[in-house]
Amino acid sequence: MQQLLESLGPVTAVIGAQWGDEGKGKAIDLLAEHFDVIARACGGANAGHTIVVQGKKHVFHLLPAGSLHENKTVFLGSGMVIHLPTLLEEIETLRQAGVDIVPRLRLSEGAHIVFDYHKDIDGVTEERRAKATGGKIGTTKRGIGPAYTDKAARTGMRLGDLKSFGASSAALRKELGWRAKLANAQFGVFIDTKKEEQHLLQAWELLRDRIVPMRTILDDLDKKKRILIEGAQATLLDLDHGTYPFVTSSFTTAAGAMQGLGLPPRALTSCIGVAKAYCTRVGEGIFPTEVEGETGDRLRERGGEYGATTGRPRRCGWLALDDLDYAARLNGCTHWNITKLDVLDEEAEIPVGVATENGKATFEKLSGWKSPTRGMRDFATLPAKAQEFIRFIEGRTKVPVALIGTGPGREEMIIR
Ligand code: GDP
Ligand code: IMO
Ligand code: MG
Repeated sequence: MQQLLESLGPVTAVIGAQWGDEGKGKAIDLLAEHFDVIARACGGANAGHTIVVQGKKHVFHLLPAGSLHENKTVFLGSGMVIHLPTLLEEIETLRQAGVDIVPRLRLSEGAHIVFDYHKDIDGVTEERRAKATGGKIGTTKRGIGPAYTDKAARTGMRLGDLKSFGASSAALRKELGWRAKLANAQFGVFIDTKKEEQHLLQAWELLRDRIVPMRTILDDLDKKKRILIEGAQATLLDLDHGTYPFVTSSFTTAAGAMQGLGLPPRALTSCIGVAKAYCTRVGEGIFPTEVEGETGDRLRERGGEYGATTGRPRRCGWLALDDLDYAARLNGCTHWNITKLDVLDEEAEIPVGVATENGKATFEKLSGWKSPTRGMRDFATLPAKAQEFIRFIEGRTKVPVALIGTGPGREEMIIR
């Protein structure tokens, strides 16, 4: 670990290299102990990060997966969109697990608020799209797109705004009122302003002292704090660089994370790209290495590939090295964390996508290792064919594999 930490330096981003759910949460949880500030930069409760600590499962949507570690500052950055009732629920779930996160929580006043009506608009837009085109994006219906739409249109509300009218219901009602009319005119959704107001006041009561100036994270940087950045969603879901329109509405790359947090790009000292040893996707959109039928089902069952946020079965397929290469170059990955190696333990043959043309993948076939790797912690003990598989990824992407996941548990990781 010490050697890895030295190579990471003080500001590390953990970024998904595929279509999400690569296991970013687990890497964050494992590394958090060695950092001072754990920061989420963008996205909202569309994320679902599952970790397993001493056999107990914890799922995070808005708070970073490193939140269980005592004494760590947890920062939710300006690039995020936050549904406050969901945040309160997550805080309460943690409290029941014996962790009081509130005193060490910092919420950037620049983060935007997701209202319930954003979720309604998300649903209405999907329905209208489906009616007109027969297809959907397959969003998580967490109101992410509509909240970022409001942000870009400058009709959004930020956490910092609560400071100016948090104490005054009348001012709050006025602010909610005109937004409600606008959303109703545009999308026909009904907005329960009373309920929204209640949500805001509840959150204000608990979190009023936790809303901080945007530049707080810059002060941390000046104080030489070690900052661990939890990416949410993933490279191929990036609004600019992903598989548009089947993407999320935020900037999910390392550059997006620095923008979302309000940190200078050159402060980043390393970027860990996280990729499964195979590949999954939830929602619609291209997936050239997708495998359906028996093989897809086998990967899904072995990998437990069901969404942590929506419970949807994830589409499954093989690793696409050209995508990993793209993610490595786009994010400036310095290290890989290849996760879920153990899921391939029973495969006789492992196809790996090496190129894509006209939406079709070309595969090279590697031999499987057909023996258990679950829980292994030492690279040398991995079967020779599994070592070859890892070296194959390194050779093609020119990025070293520093971490290898061999199970969902915190300890089930090889650190090289
Ligand atoms: P994230 O969104 O990138 O944090 O990933 P998710 O938490 O949505 O999905 C990853 C799933 O795989 C979770 O259920 C993890 O507990 C599990 N997981 C993570 N790493 C490993 C691994 O190395 N092996 C196995 N078998 N499961 C893993
Ligand atoms: P984590 O952080 C996997 C996908 C949705 C849909 C598209 C747009 O757990 O890796 P949205 O609700 O964001 O408007 O949906 O993006 N998506 C994710 N897929 N993991 C995620 O997060 C995702 N967040 C969004 O399935 O295809
Ligand atoms: Mg996830």
